[in-house]
Amino acid sequence: MNDQPAIKEGYLAFYGDKAGNSGGQGGKTMCGIVGIVGHSRVTPLILTTLKRLEYRGYDSAGVATIEHGELARRRAEGKLINLERRLKEEPLDGTIGIGHTRWATHGVPNETNAHPHFSDGVAIVHNGIIENFAELRDELVRDGYAFSSQTDTEVVAHLVARELARGLKPVEAAHQALKRLEGAFALAIMFKGDEDLIVGARNGPPLAVGHGDGEMFLGSDAIALAPFTNSITYLEDGDWAVVRRDSVAIFDIDGNKVERKRQQSLSTSFMVDKGNRRHFMEKEIHEQPEVISHTLAHYVDFVSGVSKPLDLPFDFARIGRLAISACGTAYLAGLIGKYWFERYARLPVDIDVASEFRYREMPLSANDAAFFISQSGETADTLASLRYCRKAGMKIGAVVNVRESTMARESDVVLPTLAGPEIGVASTKAFTCQLSVLASLAVRAGVARGVISREQEKTLVRALSEAPRYANQVLKLEEQIERIARELSRYKDVLYLGRDTNFPLAMEGALKLKEISYIHAEGYAAGELKHGPIALIDENMPVIVIAPHDRIFEKTVSNMQEVAARGGKIILITDAKGAAQVSVKTMETIILPDVPEIISPIIYALPIQMLAYFAAVFMGTDVDQPRNLAKSVTVE
Ligand code: AGP
Repeated sequence: MNDQPAIKEGYLAFYGDKAGNSGGQGGKTMCGIVGIVGHSRVTPLILTTLKRLEYRGYDSAGVATIEHGELARRRAEGKLINLERRLKEEPLDGTIGIGHTRWATHGVPNETNAHPHFSDGVAIVHNGIIENFAELRDELVRDGYAFSSQTDTEVVAHLVARELARGLKPVEAAHQALKRLEGAFALAIMFKGDEDLIVGARNGPPLAVGHGDGEMFLGSDAIALAPFTNSITYLEDGDWAVVRRDSVAIFDIDGNKVERKRQQSLSTSFMVDKGNRRHFMEKEIHEQPEVISHTLAHYVDFVSGVSKPLDLPFDFARIGRLAISACGTAYLAGLIGKYWFERYARLPVDIDVASEFRYREMPLSANDAAFFISQSGETADTLASLRYCRKAGMKIGAVVNVRESTMARESDVVLPTLAGPEIGVASTKAFTCQLSVLASLAVRAGVARGVISREQEKTLVRALSEAPRYANQVLKLEEQIERIARELSRYKDVLYLGRDTNFPLAMEGALKLKEISYIHAEGYAAGELKHGPIALIDENMPVIVIAPHDRIFEKTVSNMQEVAARGGKIILITDAKGAAQVSVKTMETIILPDVPEIISPIIYALPIQMLAYFAAVFMGTDVDQPRNLAKSVTVE
């Protein structure tokens, strides 16, 4: 049986000795949930499972069991050691239980907000974000339900309890409550009076069923369940499961029974499990709605609609300029950030790839600030640029995914992306989380500089809070995108075009494609087409045009006409309005939801990631470990 050190070693092995302890934020973002319908005292098993979920990061934890016919729970703020102490003082009996490690999104990290949450004979643990919790909460308050926490999760407990009060049996009560939920959730629900039942549900965050011998398990991933079983069934989005000691039945949201593959999981070590995905990259692409919501929740308050004040070592209102430096995909995130800081905060931004930044002797001022963006926090060029700016006396911010990384340690403020461990060499969820951080900071800077009014701030924060939902919708286009990628993989060269924030996205799309499928690709500002690249256009050069219907859409349409006139094959990524208005014949059109401008780059990143992913799968390359590449370039 693996114990905690093995996981720690695994994590350390992967993230180097800067791996974050569970107290950090680095690379950890997701709550952990577990449920056990057992035949022995269940509390020690739940604690073992929660320890295996620590790597995900959390700030409180709790356990509930059915003890002598009653629901009972122990919860504690901070780390598991505090919960263990509570359980030593006040042990919990019972052979059925649920447990949770919480990463606070709605409501501060304290015991009151820790899971499990109760309501009239119902106990529940939850990972994810209930997007419509505010309206559900109002409805339940009108029905007389009193809330004891600030969490979105508590509305689910009361919803199930209300269905029970209406006379439904536990399974049907859970099913009816699930139908009311919008957003991302992995849930485990337990009922007073039934010691042989836990209902699990998944919509977004992963949830696995573990098949034991005379006992059954639910867990956020196979790592958590590895000590007890490696016979795993992963629920799919929309599934819910009736878990009993000797059986599990899985249904779709309409209540139709569905069959899900039972597999042997290999995840007995830290290396996070691919779940039911073929590659880490595919899994990480699909984690984006959840980790984007976790990242955004760190910077904006979804409920009050404000950008959270940050404890920064500089005042956005007083700096004259912001320098940004990074490499690769992180640099392209920074380039999009430049548009945002200049547009929403009127803050001039100087940005360059780190390998150029530190040698071109840019004039720097100690009155200005500099941000360094890095998934690993260890990229040598970026680190050298950070040190270059620090020597110039600038205030340094590190937008990093590994909390204890070198860049984090050498900066004045860490601005974490909460993407969780990113295993695939091609950066996907880290990129959209970097964009989430930069968009939130641009709003914050605009407020601080008096450029954004309170009303505008609420509108922008509202738009940001919609990102996870739109991301979820776009992931559902994967069948069409896979088909297009198969076609794309037949070509040797591909051109990506975009304007405004879609220009850096065009470069990111080209980078994704070339680094994992080895197909040559270039990203260009659409307006630059006639200044050279148009010479490349013929029927052997697919052109991917990234163009939501915005104020410059017509300009991009004329670029598409120039391409079409020379036999170029166009793949257009747009929205419904764009698709309706485009007057040019395209080889394919991918239609995304109509999204607010500020989150457009976050949402439009998904199809370009999926195109590259599927093209690489068709090319048969090593998607997670492409040739010649490393996950973190710690050499110059
Ligand atoms: C992204 O897909 C690439 N793997 C690469 O460009 C990466 O973004 C770059 O090496 C920077 O890495 P960092 O974010 O860890 O600094």
